[in-house]
Amino acid sequence: MENKVKPNGNATLTVGGKSTELPVYSGSVGPDVVDIGKLYAQTGMFTLDPGFTSTASCESQITYIDGDQGILLHRGYPIDQLAENSSFLEVCYLLLHGELPNAKQSKDFVDAITRHTMLHAQFDRFFEGFRRDAHPMAIMCGTVGALSAFYHDSTDINDPAQRTIASHRMIAKMPTIAARAFKYSTGQPFISPRNELDFASNFLRMSFAVPAEDYKVNPVLARAMDRIFILHADHEQNASTSTVRLAGSSGANPFACIAAGIACLWGPSHGGANEAALQMLQEIGTVDRVPEFVKKAKDKSSGFRLMGFGHRVYKNYDPRAKVMQKTCHEVLKEVGHEADPLLPVAVELERIALQDEYFIEKKLYPNIDFYSGITLKAMGFPTSMFTVLFALARTVGWIAQWQEMITDPTQRIGRPRQVYTGATQRDYVPMAQRK
Ligand code: SDX
Repeated sequence: MENKVKPNGNATLTVGGKSTELPVYSGSVGPDVVDIGKLYAQTGMFTLDPGFTSTASCESQITYIDGDQGILLHRGYPIDQLAENSSFLEVCYLLLHGELPNAKQSKDFVDAITRHTMLHAQFDRFFEGFRRDAHPMAIMCGTVGALSAFYHDSTDINDPAQRTIASHRMIAKMPTIAARAFKYSTGQPFISPRNELDFASNFLRMSFAVPAEDYKVNPVLARAMDRIFILHADHEQNASTSTVRLAGSSGANPFACIAAGIACLWGPSHGGANEAALQMLQEIGTVDRVPEFVKKAKDKSSGFRLMGFGHRVYKNYDPRAKVMQKTCHEVLKEVGHEADPLLPVAVELERIALQDEYFIEKKLYPNIDFYSGITLKAMGFPTSMFTVLFALARTVGWIAQWQEMITDPTQRIGRPRQVYTGATQRDYVPMAQRK
């Protein structure tokens, strides 16, 4: 990656009467940054920013979010335009290569991914090691990490050809692994990928077909699935992407880095929120109980939060949530679930929250996880599979960010410091002298 930040003067930090000049840089859009890389050497001080609310960890050219405007761009293209006009594999190409593919590039990329969808025959035994009731995300963490044991020939991060093969293998095999995690939990036999099917149709068939009869992919659901994958593909330096970058900064192999991202995504504050949001809607149950839960969410002592609401960056409506809401209605109509009792609960919860002073003042809006659960449930997925689908789609974003980090000439191993408030040095106390 070629660094493209532009110098834009200096910031002066004055502490204890001593001033230090720190360079300021501008990106192509978004906030300027103060480069504090030399702050410790020049002042003997660290900065402190738990949660990294004001800290840029890297330069990136992949995804830009304007949280105040509710804008999400992938290589400059707005998410709503990509969701409407593109396909998931075309968005994968865009994220990885920086430009939309021409017809030949698109065909070659789709062929490359299609030909990597099968898993090593011995790999299926990994699933046998899990209990049938294992959470599919636990299976994903374990099996994706194990890919490096099977595909050791694409783990040299300094070889661009191996980085490309490893990237294609993970994008292609995640749907096969995800479908197997689902099938394993149901006790049904695994279904192999079919090369004549598109990415989303292949995944739906591997998830829902049974050997006892033919399976016809519903084109409306396939389009919805593909669009849902587009919505989840990348999201700049979120927690799981930052985990992948930090793991990758040590030189860890790509499969291990993606497995680390999956583990981080599983948290209910992050990718696990789609599962938690549906469970919350099920707990609310009926429209008349919505005010009770809104009240609870506003009461800090309750420890309860509206899952699928709020975002570190978006202080406006998550643009992905708007597309997800539209997709939700399309899917419910197609499967005849317009009467899903959870939909009016979600709509009422959103209506009340968007007009409530607490949510307005804290700028809490529905995020991508708010409507995804109802949609995925209507498509036939159990709640436990929701974050698996998020990880399936986000794999390309993690890989694109990992590739960018590996090829960034300024990249070094990530090693944050701390402000220490523990015991200062003291001598060992023999047992006989302890109280
Ligand atoms: C994803 O980073 C990404 O890009 C993530 C993601 C991606 O694509 O990778 O977009 C995917 O993770 C979406 C977010 C999914 N998580 C949830 O829906 C869980 C519920 N939301 C939150 O817990 C929370 O909003 C976060 C984790 C999403 C953001 O947390 P922040 O930025 O650290 O904000 P905060 O916890 O400091 O909250 C700010 C205030 C607090 O009140 P005060 O201390 O200021 O009085 O808002 C309140 C919070 O109590 N608040 C909520 C709330 N979210 C924040 N109150 C009620 N319900 C909520 N959902």
